[in-house]
Order: sequence, then structure tokens, then C-alpha cells
Amino acid sequence: MQEKGRLKGKVALITGASGGQGLVEAELFAAEGAAVILADVADAPAKALARRIVMRGGHAAYLKLDVTKTAHWTRAVNLARREFGALHVLVNNAGMISRTPVAEVTDAEWARVLAVNLTGPMIGTRAVLPLMRDSGGGSIVNISSTAALVGHPGVCYAASKWGLRGVTKATALQYVSWGVRVNSVHPAQVSETGMTANASPAYRDANNQAMPLGRAARPAEIAQCVLFLASDESSYITGSEIVVDGGATSIGFPHVRNVLADQYNKRKRK
Ligand SMILES: NC(=O)c1ccc[n+]([C@@H]2O[C@H](COP(=O)([O-])OP(=O)(O)OC[C@H]3O[C@@H](n4cnc5c(N)ncnc54)[C@H](O)[C@@H]3O)[C@@H](O)[C@H]2O)c1
Repeated sequence: MQEKGRLKGKVALITGASGGQGLVEAELFAAEGAAVILADVADAPAKALARRIVMRGGHAAYLKLDVTKTAHWTRAVNLARREFGALHVLVNNAGMISRTPVAEVTDAEWARVLAVNLTGPMIGTRAVLPLMRDSGGGSIVNISSTAALVGHPGVCYAASKWGLRGVTKATALQYVSWGVRVNSVHPAQVSETGMTANASPAYRDANNQAMPLGRAARPAEIAQCVLFLASDESSYITGSEIVVDGGATSIGFPHVRNVLADQYNKRKRK
């Protein structure tokens, strides 16, 4: 069992903090001693959580932030410096889904998904780096997806999440000397999120059945990985892709696996 306080003394900014995963990460980070800036375009429920953290004696602030807007990032950095005097962790978690195949995608959809999922994390990273350096270094965690490891039907989403892998590696390489580590996290399907809720039940069920672990991840299971990467426990990890997908991309061939499991069970019963 880990001790509490794994982020004690750290200031963390989480984008998309009103969403399924971001909200859980913010709660966990605060419980582990971080001062947390919860940022989202949607006030609820991140704003209320920030208030609850403060009422419990923790340190938190809510910021309305559209990740695609450079001026909003300037505001975020100013808030971190003014309210908390530092910034050690950025979780680029905000994102939007798109499942449109390439022959049907509009220019507007392509531009919007790339702006939110790829340009947003890049301009956010650019904005926070000097303050991270001045804070003695830090950790940037980019929430990508298994859609950046294997095929995904939505061309905009796939391209944005593959691009984020590239942003991760370029930043990790360049800012070692500033004491900044940068890694990407690759979940498969995550339950209890807006993104999964807006998929068709058939798509969701097919995904769940294909998971070697037989179900989608819970947001808390992704948050534990993000916490590890944000903390000094991962001090020797940078530029890495951490896959949290219930075995989906590494075990593969679920139907073959089921046949083999049946054969194995039959042999054991003999
Ligand atoms: N849910 C899944 O199955 C799944 C799987 C793999 C990766 N991911 C990734 O996980 C991350 C978190 O998503 P989630 O699963 O919690 O989904 P979610 O839809 O519940 O949360 C996404 C959040 O991002 C916010 N957001 C959207 N556009 C924004 C913008 N321009 N600026 C600021 N905030 C914005 C939304 O308001 C929302 O609160 C995303 O990057 C997503 O691509 C999700």
C-alpha cells in the first residue's frame, strides 16, 4: 500500500477536469497532497470539486480554459504563478472524440479535432515550460489513446492522438535539461466518461468484449497511472508510452485467445 502524499508540495494543472477521467485525476491528486488547478471549458463539475477541495483544507482553483486558445494558457500560467507560486505537473487530458471515416470527414471537423486534441496540448506545453523550469522541473502527462498505437476508425481522432505521441517525444528530448519529463498514456475504452457515453451501445459492447480483461477501464485505473507519472516515483521515465488498455494492444487476437482458453480448460478437466 502506497503512503498518501505522493504529490506533496507539487502544483498540478489538469485540463478537461470536468470530464470522466480529469475529474477523478483532480480528486486523486488533491488527496495525494497536490495543489490542483482544474481547467475545462465546462464549469461543472470541476468548479464544484475545486470548492470542495478547498473546504476540506486542500489547495485548488478552477479555471475556465479552452485548450485551443493561447490567451487562455497565458491566463493559466499567470494563475499558477500568482496563486501557488509554481507549476510542476501538466496533465493534457482534455479531448474530443470523432469516429468519422476519412471519406466523410469535413474540413471543419478535421480542424476542430486536431485543434483540441493536438494543438491544445502543444500550445499548453509551450506556455507552461518556462514556469516549470523556474519551479525546479516537472512532469507533463499527455493523454493519448490506443488509437495512437493501432488502427482506429475515426481519422481525425487517430491522427490527433498519433500526433500527440510526436509532441510528447519532441518535448521530452528537448527539455531534459530543464528537468521536465514528458510521457504519454494510452488507454483503450474507459467507462463512466462522456466520450464512451456518446458511442453507440453496439460499438461500446464490441470494444468491451474484445478486451482481454473483459471490460473497459474505470477512470480511477487510468488516474493511478497518471499519478505515478506525475510523481517523482517515475523520475527515470521520460518520452515513454504507457499503455493502460487491459491487454488490448499487447495480447491481441481475442478470438484465438478464447479458443485456446477453451482447449486448455477441456484438457484440465480430463
Ligand atoms: N473515454 C475513453 O474511452 C478514452 C479512451 C482513450 C483515451 N481517452 C482520452 O482521455 C481524455 C479524457 O477524456 P474522457 O474519457 O474523460 O472524456 P470526457 O468526454 O468525459 O472528458 C473530456 C473533457 O474535455 C473537455 N474539453 C473538450 N474540449 C475542450 C477544450 N477545447 N478545452 C478544454 N476542455 C475541453 C470536456 O468539456 C470534458 O470535460 C481525452 O483526451 C480522451 O481522448 C478517452
